[in-house]
Amino acid sequence: MPMKWRWTLLFDSEKELKELMQGKISHVHRTMFGEVLLVRNNDEILAFENKCPHQNKSLEGCWLEDEQIVCPYHQYHFNLSDGRGQGMYVDKYQLKFEDGKVFLGKEKWSLF
Ligand code: FES
Repeated sequence: MPMKWRWTLLFDSEKELKELMQGKISHVHRTMFGEVLLVRNNDEILAFENKCPHQNKSLEGCWLEDEQIVCPYHQYHFNLSDGRGQGMYVDKYQLKFEDGKVFLGKEKWSLF
């Protein structure tokens, strides 16, 4: 079954996103797809579903260790590259920069 992307506008400008993440490791943002965890790893900003798969808790307050998100509740680790860890995974979203705006993309299954 092919995968498709569904996109929603996240910020009107890239500057808005950069200012929001200035000096922060993570930020929880409400979107059309629900709560999204934005994570800053050096100059790169990544987006994940804000739900730890261990007990479905928020990842707000998480931190980074060795390119992994660490859940603040029981310290499970999830890779920044694909969200995988501990035999589970956190859904990873895409960020797309187009016409100066920032869009958030979520994979969806499609029959066509
Ligand atoms: S809820 Fe995240 S590790 Fe337990």
